[in-house]
Amino acid sequence: MCGIIGYVGHRPAAEILINGLRRLEYRGYDSAGIALIDNGRLNILKNAGKVNLLAERMRASWNAELLNRATLGIAHTRWATHGPPTEVNAHPHTDQTGRLALVHNGIIENYASLRRQLEGRGHKFLSQTDTEVLAHLIGEFYKGDLVDAVCAALKHVEGTYGIACVSADLPGAMVVARKGSPLLIGVGENETIVASDVSAIISHTRQVIYLDDNDVALVTAAGAEIRDINNISVSRAVASVDWEESAAEKGGFAHFMLKEIFEQPDALQNTMRGRLDEEMGSAFLAGLQFTPREMAGIRRVVILACGTSMHAGMVGRYFFEELADLPTEVEQAAEFRYRNPLIGGHDLVIAISQSGETADTLAAVREAIQKGALVVSLCNVVGSTIARETGRGVYLHAGPEIGVASTKAFTSQLLVLLMMALKFGRSRRLSREEGLEICREVRSVPGLVRETLKQNDAIAALAARYAKARDFFYIGRGLLYPVALEGALKLKEISYIHAEGYHAAELKHGPIALLDENVPVLALACDVPGKDKTFSNIQECRARQAPVLSVVTDGDPSLPEMLTDIIRVPPSSPRLTPITVVVALQLFAYHVARIRGCPIDQPKNLAKSVTVE
Ligand code: F6R
Repeated sequence: MCGIIGYVGHRPAAEILINGLRRLEYRGYDSAGIALIDNGRLNILKNAGKVNLLAERMRASWNAELLNRATLGIAHTRWATHGPPTEVNAHPHTDQTGRLALVHNGIIENYASLRRQLEGRGHKFLSQTDTEVLAHLIGEFYKGDLVDAVCAALKHVEGTYGIACVSADLPGAMVVARKGSPLLIGVGENETIVASDVSAIISHTRQVIYLDDNDVALVTAAGAEIRDINNISVSRAVASVDWEESAAEKGGFAHFMLKEIFEQPDALQNTMRGRLDEEMGSAFLAGLQFTPREMAGIRRVVILACGTSMHAGMVGRYFFEELADLPTEVEQAAEFRYRNPLIGGHDLVIAISQSGETADTLAAVREAIQKGALVVSLCNVVGSTIARETGRGVYLHAGPEIGVASTKAFTSQLLVLLMMALKFGRSRRLSREEGLEICREVRSVPGLVRETLKQNDAIAALAARYAKARDFFYIGRGLLYPVALEGALKLKEISYIHAEGYHAAELKHGPIALLDENVPVLALACDVPGKDKTFSNIQECRARQAPVLSVVTDGDPSLPEMLTDIIRVPPSSPRLTPITVVVALQLFAYHVARIRGCPIDQPKNLAKSVTVE
């Protein structure tokens, strides 16, 4: 996710801003930039790549006088959403006059129509970003009062933002605002630092004002005057932050993995933002444009992916078959090009990859393109190789995933697959009413995940009971079979416990021979079709003395008494159950690994992006 830092005070801003950017690096980014106001001039530097490169270029390009004298500036780390990670797309962006600069976190959903309107009035744009559109809009409203201009512009904006804005005509002040994207103001001794994340400011001050949505603030060295979007004064309390600097990097969480598990309600909200067509009961997926002929010609879906992304694809298969009547196959990407895949123009190939760089998936994508299939991708990292080579696709917008074990990308992948199946379903068999029902389901997902996260303490207590196991079986059926595979993968990769995921019915075809009182079984027995059969499979495990930990639907009246250790997830439509259940399994794996003292964010032998076959 992008990061913002701004400084106004009595010390040289450049060094403070660069150090602030370094504190934000952990969030993941692909380009960086800085703007300093000095002597009525706006100076901007930006580049694709690391903050260190920006620091080097700054020392080489700007003279010592500027670096020592400028006491007002803003800076940014960008994680690409609109347009690839290039110098021109990096922030800060300027307005039409080149005298006003803006950094922005979030997504301006109506940027395309705003851009068209501004172009109609003669504005010229250099980048592909939504942020540049906002800079021009603020510039158009600027008549000498920057707070007025920001308030006026934001009234035309749909979407989310945390922004910091400076003007060459306004020495000693900047204007910041937030809606849906965090922004806070650190109040120091004759200096004020704004940031999107407390980690960037706590080395300067621990006195912090957290802005609320729709707040706009004029920030000077003396502090901040806060208004609402109608420019009416509001008051906000100053809080005292007591985090250690190291904890703040992870937003107060002990590990990135835990932080990312807890980020899921927000990540899912971002994934669905602006994509539900609540009028027609369908989904807007702008990156999935097909000609009517292509659309009508699709006879089969083939999903290509590895690891966790493949498990998402296996759940997606149920969505496509159920909602869109499309036969769907899921292929382990590494295997695809070593067979003779019978694939062609009537096949829609969906490549799923968080990183967009996985070598096996990329090779399979190239094979499918070469064989003439319609190939689209579902990636998290914007501008990644798979996203570029497929050309068409959908970004997850889940924010950077830093923990090696994939968590929030998986749930966002499931949500996008559901929206894709909805879009195809509406063009093939689903009525508007059925489509609207699925839209309602999609909207409920962040709330369901929030509910599931409330089980954290209960899951931690259960994890303590199972943390000494050497082997584990995970069983599930239907939509929960791939979730059993994913739960087992999470446990083995971060806790190093040998864990195997099996279809619940498959256990008795061999693996049951391994069960005894030392081999626990984690059974996914939620209220989805096949539940009663899973209850019977649990009986079979109990009869072999295996300890059984069950994940069930809260309030399910049919739970057999024999279930003792239970994790509860909130009731939902069966389609959404994989999402709530996997969140519980992520927490379980996390706590087991924590109790065992494992290096959770960097498990041995694993890399975040696997670029070798
Ligand atoms: C497990 C995990 C891996 C990845 C796999 C594919 O937690 O992260 O199994 O899912 O390496 O990576 P992407 O999705 O980047 O193609």
